[in-house]
Amino acid sequence: MPNPTGYPELDALLPRLEAIPDLGVDALASELIAVLGRKSGALTEALKSLPSLPLDQRKGYGAAVNQLKAGFEVAFAARREALESERRRNESAGIDLTMPARHRWVGSEHPVTRVVDEIVEIFRGIGFTVAVGPEIETDWYNFTALNFPPDHPAMDMHDTLFVDAPPIAGERGGRLLLRTHTSPVQIRAMLESPPPVRVIIPGLVYRNDPFDASHAPAFSQVEGLAVDEEISFVDLKATLVHFAHQFFSPSTRVRFRPSFFPFTEPSAEMDVECQLCHGGGCPACKGTGWMEILGCGMVHPAVFEHSGVDAERYTGWAFGMGPHRIAMLRYGIPDIRLLYEGDMRFLEQFLPGGQRGSRAAGQRS
Ligand code: DAH
Repeated sequence: MPNPTGYPELDALLPRLEAIPDLGVDALASELIAVLGRKSGALTEALKSLPSLPLDQRKGYGAAVNQLKAGFEVAFAARREALESERRRNESAGIDLTMPARHRWVGSEHPVTRVVDEIVEIFRGIGFTVAVGPEIETDWYNFTALNFPPDHPAMDMHDTLFVDAPPIAGERGGRLLLRTHTSPVQIRAMLESPPPVRVIIPGLVYRNDPFDASHAPAFSQVEGLAVDEEISFVDLKATLVHFAHQFFSPSTRVRFRPSFFPFTEPSAEMDVECQLCHGGGCPACKGTGWMEILGCGMVHPAVFEHSGVDAERYTGWAFGMGPHRIAMLRYGIPDIRLLYEGDMRFLEQFLPGGQRGSRAAGQRS
């Protein structure tokens, strides 16, 4: 910092003097006017005020202003010279500084990631904690502990991808497979910590499905589990209605339909009012006005037994939903494959605040 002058209004200019070597062409020009401009530059004004000062102060103040002014003049000249020689260097190197800059790629969350995060946050807000489990599971966790009888037709629902590897020592169950749902993490969560349990479980699951407009061999699920004394279907309904109101909108209507899952009894599926036509009926909801978003139910006593939980004392409820599907319903995406292709023209529609990446601007980085 240059030496203080002892006059506060002059000293206030010292940081600006010091900043001059960093100014660009335009900033330098406007700073020159702001400090030395003939009409209302800060130092010009200071000089103009001299005649109104008492005689004994004029000399000292005038000298200080002039010294500072000289300092600014030297600094402005030096910076101007530096910028000019930089310009000449660039020119001779063939660099054109007037060319428009390349845009940076703007990254953002994938729409499915955003949906998963929103779901998890809503449940975290009401006391659930996040749990995760392995994507390579054993048949015990994926089926047996969830009350799928061996070779029961219910297993047909899950066209399973088996892993050709020897069983893992110490793990319950025989064959290794890619988990077909996140429900096995229910078992792991209860074996790990006894009730009360309130967990929200995001993760990828795998099925031997064709890759078409409505199926993918790998997709996301979010599972929820609440186990405690005196938990009832009322808690299940109230919590899932709360979720739907938070996630979609406070006026979204929901309905529960009876269903079947081996690991819950009774079981239900929850529909929400179609987010595109709001109940009127449209192609996306096949004219019904409703969209199915999740399966749920009261935890089956057999599941508790496999998880070391006393089914006489505890009850619980669980649900599973598919964020890929929910993203499709929410954003009106007609083909699930769009969520896997990584095509920027598609993904850019989900940038926050309608920003556009460089491709759309016709430029490549
Ligand atoms: N695991 C089921 C599936 O992948 C979804 C599900 C249904 C999970 C009901 C649950 C539940 O926890 O209670 O189709």
